[in-house]
Amino acid sequence: MIDMELLARKLADAGQGHLLKFFDRLDAETQVRFANELDALDLELLQSLIKSHVLQKPQIALPQDLQPAPYFPLIPRNDSESSYYQKADAAGAELIASGKVAALTVAGGQGSRLGFDGPKGTYPIAPVSGKSLFQYFAESLLSASRKYRTQLHWFIMTSVLNDRMTRDFFAEHDFFGLPENTVHFFTQGFMPAIGYDGKLLMADCGSLALSPDGHGGTLLALRKSGMLELMQQLGVEYLSYFQIDNPLVPVVDKRFIGLHKLENSEMSAITLAKTNAFEKVGNFCIGNGQLLVIEYSDLPEELAQMQDENGRLKFIAGSPAIHVISRKFVERLTAGGRLELDWHRADKKIKCIDCNGNPIDPTEPNGVKLESFIFDALKLADKTMIFEADRKEEFAPTKNATGVDSVESCRLMLTDRDARRLERCGVKIPRRADGTVDAVIEISPLAVWDDADCAAYVRQHDLTAVEAGAKLYLQ
Ligand code: UD1
Repeated sequence: MIDMELLARKLADAGQGHLLKFFDRLDAETQVRFANELDALDLELLQSLIKSHVLQKPQIALPQDLQPAPYFPLIPRNDSESSYYQKADAAGAELIASGKVAALTVAGGQGSRLGFDGPKGTYPIAPVSGKSLFQYFAESLLSASRKYRTQLHWFIMTSVLNDRMTRDFFAEHDFFGLPENTVHFFTQGFMPAIGYDGKLLMADCGSLALSPDGHGGTLLALRKSGMLELMQQLGVEYLSYFQIDNPLVPVVDKRFIGLHKLENSEMSAITLAKTNAFEKVGNFCIGNGQLLVIEYSDLPEELAQMQDENGRLKFIAGSPAIHVISRKFVERLTAGGRLELDWHRADKKIKCIDCNGNPIDPTEPNGVKLESFIFDALKLADKTMIFEADRKEEFAPTKNATGVDSVESCRLMLTDRDARRLERCGVKIPRRADGTVDAVIEISPLAVWDDADCAAYVRQHDLTAVEAGAKLYLQ
């Protein structure tokens, strides 16, 4: 039973007394629920964040000595690197096959830029079959499991906004063929949205306007939900981390995982050469002796455009948000049930009620959402490792409905990847004058995991050429 007098005093002292303005109007059940919600707030943390991040814009103090971060290149530079990569392949394959690797997908975001009503993972992304992002990943995991003769586990982070819908989607689709006991949902934490005057916003008279606390929330949510213990019981030691918006990502990558292990890294990252100075990805940098990811919006223009002696962008290493994370690192960081990651401010249009209880659907930003980012954990790791990947093979983010990083570009890249794969296996692919594929092609992840599978498929189906303009689904 919550002491309402005490709660009212605490809220008033923290400058949040307005939250109880409509309390007497609520029915008894809502009162109990709302009182619990308010009582659970970390008012001390909120007060300090309001001061530092809401009433003023936080100062992003970039280290003076900011340098590009070193990384292992995609193509080995010499024979010894080449044999090191082969050793990594073997180590990674062994870890996957022995069940020590699980996939971890962050799917708690709101996907508002996509303009899609529902969890982003339910978006029909595949270019011919229209499979959802979730199905695409599920089938990739099934295929990889078959390849490595194991059963990969999949940890999926949802948020208060989409947890129910996500679970229902999997149940409705029989988990896309995955054994149900290998799919583990857990829900991330949330933060209250805050108006520019420093007052917490209310969704209605009896609830706060809440939003997910950023993918940095993954780490603490893994502990609080009991997933770390479950991983330990299952013998999972490494997490192959990727975002729900990138169906091109290899759900487990033996070389990347192997390098993580050989380098004794606690948290590793994939990097891609940026397409231009201002591509909307994070930048891998070293500052104050630490590995940092500086968001595109925070990297000063002159640094973003700076070139090296070969005329190449100096800060070329972009982040597609693909990581390997050691379970023990997450255990260490979250010991004691707390984790101090930086908070970041995002100015947003937040639906809420005004001081008279009337609903507001703003057309301009009216407040701040606070999030933490997983890549800020890199600077807390004793050892990190970055490995370069081929963008065409790994990164097709679905952020917007059209244009750059969109559903359209993602589908084209999926077609392109599958076309290249078929070409490597001797299939003739129709290409336009500018080199783009003149067909829509989709290979089901269930049919093909790697080039060896593709070669076998092509032989078995006697596939020698794809017709111009064809829409082809290989399953
Ligand atoms: C993100 C990265 C950026 C990277 C790019 C690659 C940030 C701040 N930036 O950009 O460095 O180069 O991806 O595509 O993340 N999510 C949650 N819970 C949350 C918030 C997000 O699970 O509270 C998930 C989303 O579902 C999504 C992913 O995190 O899978 C990325 O979120 P999004 O907000 O789309 O990040 P971007 O700004 O696009």
